[in-house]
Amino acid sequence: MRRVVCPGSFDPVTNGHIDIIGRAARQYDEVVAAVLTNVNKRGLFSVEEKLAMLRECTANLENVQISQFNGLLVDFCRDNGIGAIIRSLRSVSDFDYELQIAQMNYRLAGVETLFMTANPQYSFLSSSLVREIAQYGGDVSSLVTPDVEQRLRDKYKDRDSS
Ligand code: PNS
Repeated sequence: MRRVVCPGSFDPVTNGHIDIIGRAARQYDEVVAAVLTNVNKRGLFSVEEKLAMLRECTANLENVQISQFNGLLVDFCRDNGIGAIIRSLRSVSDFDYELQIAQMNYRLAGVETLFMTANPQYSFLSSSLVREIAQYGGDVSSLVTPDVEQRLRDKYKDRDSS
């Protein structure tokens, strides 16, 4: 069984993430999309909301599981029999950052990191930009699923009225 993890903050999951998870699911027996639940890094969405969004947008992918982790990613990999981490590269600056983490994760636990180049359609896309556009009422319909788009709308409506 070749099981890999697609880890991330997923705040929120974007079409770029979905593209990577879907492509990984075609290459491996099982893909675990794992949400970091770092208590020190409060996101726009709660962990429960992030998990729900991921479940919704991967419901058609039979070999994708949704999970969460706290602490070191390599510990999550060890506890779940995962031998490799999939990370997306959108740009050279992504690579500069990811290379160091990948080498450290290998040094810590022998866990491999496999880089998947981002679909050029989404190479400019990030969760933080999606949040910013949505916050100011911009159109994110081509960047996230309709479910995520609605949740963003609700989130900022709640914030505006509070
Ligand atoms: O979506 P992101 O924010 O780019 O995801 C980053 C993530 C969650 C993959 C990364 O921050 C991570 O693995 N955090 C867990 C702590 C850890 O293992 N850090 C690496 C130490 S070398």
